[in-house]
Amino acid sequence: VRVGSGARARLIEELLAEPPGARLFLIADDNVARLHGRSLAAELRDRGLDAELLEFPAGEASKTRATKQVLEDRLFELGAGRDCAIVAVGGGVTCDLAGFVAATWHRGVPLVHVPTSLLAMVDAAIGGKTAVDLPGGKNLVGAFHQPEAVYADVDLLSTLPDAYFVEGLAEVVKSAVIGDASLFREMESSAERLLARDEEWLERVVLACATLKGRIVRRDERETGRRAVLNFGHTVAHAVETVSNYTVRHGHAVAYGMCVESRLAVDATGFPERHRGRLERLLESLGLPTGRDSQFSVEAIVAATHRDKKVRRDRVRYALPRRIGRMLPGGQAAIVVDDADLEAALRATG
Ligand SMILES: NC(=O)c1ccc[n+]([C@@H]2O[C@H](COP(=O)([O-])OP(=O)(O)OC[C@H]3O[C@@H](n4cnc5c(N)ncnc54)[C@H](O)[C@@H]3O)[C@@H](O)[C@H]2O)c1
Repeated sequence: VRVGSGARARLIEELLAEPPGARLFLIADDNVARLHGRSLAAELRDRGLDAELLEFPAGEASKTRATKQVLEDRLFELGAGRDCAIVAVGGGVTCDLAGFVAATWHRGVPLVHVPTSLLAMVDAAIGGKTAVDLPGGKNLVGAFHQPEAVYADVDLLSTLPDAYFVEGLAEVVKSAVIGDASLFREMESSAERLLARDEEWLERVVLACATLKGRIVRRDERETGRRAVLNFGHTVAHAVETVSNYTVRHGHAVAYGMCVESRLAVDATGFPERHRGRLERLLESLGLPTGRDSQFSVEAIVAATHRDKKVRRDRVRYALPRRIGRMLPGGQAAIVVDDADLEAALRATG
């Protein structure tokens, strides 16, 4: 994983030195294609590589079997064989969709990630999970397919709209809570620098999150245990997203989810009340929501948690911190919380 300003140049040099495939197929959504994908493909061609760009319409609505099929038909028309490689250039949607294409094209071809959103740099491009959504739920069809390499160039974030940038920050806060107390402290004292997209700060943040996620995934690639700590805030977040019919943005749902789940943690793990307050204040200072949108009822959110992927025998499990920077140890990655406790935490949060 290469992080930092200059990673794009490094990508080109390393693709030239050691191409992962005889032909390279770049996949990008139409926004990113216009801003970064077409110029990258042209530069690779100018340097003598066989590189073709495939585009699809931007947005979560494209993360489907139908778009995957369109891309695969296009690969077939272009004569892509087993010796090709896929280069995913974009946000989390592109990571997941292009990654899944790479996982199944001729039973799997090499994949290189060039994440262009903050969320993709700190989360989606790392760890090898690829998927598409079904009408009934997110990420229900997919595969584990690790990238050969990831090039996270923070310069590419300069064109990312503010709303998406702030959403990515929710995942950065999550990373800090689950495993990096010093990152959390630095964010508390430098929220403004981060919001101003200070380059040095962005590199620090992306490197810290990518390293942390890499470390967790290396120990538990297929989420049989410890990888579940990455789900802090996400059980409630997914429930809110479902109840809102995906109108609430993921990053906002994660911020609120962390507020609720940190309340659960105060009773369940002894998470200090003052850490809960610090978490709420940090999220607020980054412009992230810490309260519930009143149009979504507590009862509906509680019911929706039972449809979570982590539910076992109808008991809902939560990945909870013990303090900022530390989750429950070892096999206790996720613990069962009763609906009554969840309901109380939801009512108490905002
Ligand atoms: N595989 C994983 O481990 C994992 C982890 C977290 C999230 N995800 C997935 O990630 C997706 C969300 O990711 P996202 O928020 O990046 O969504 P996204 O890919 O849709 O990107 C958000 C928007 O930003 C635009 N964009 C991206 N980079 C840009 C840039 N540099 N300049 C201008 N515009 C740019 C995109 O065109 C899009 O409109 C969800 O589908 C989620 O399930 C996957």
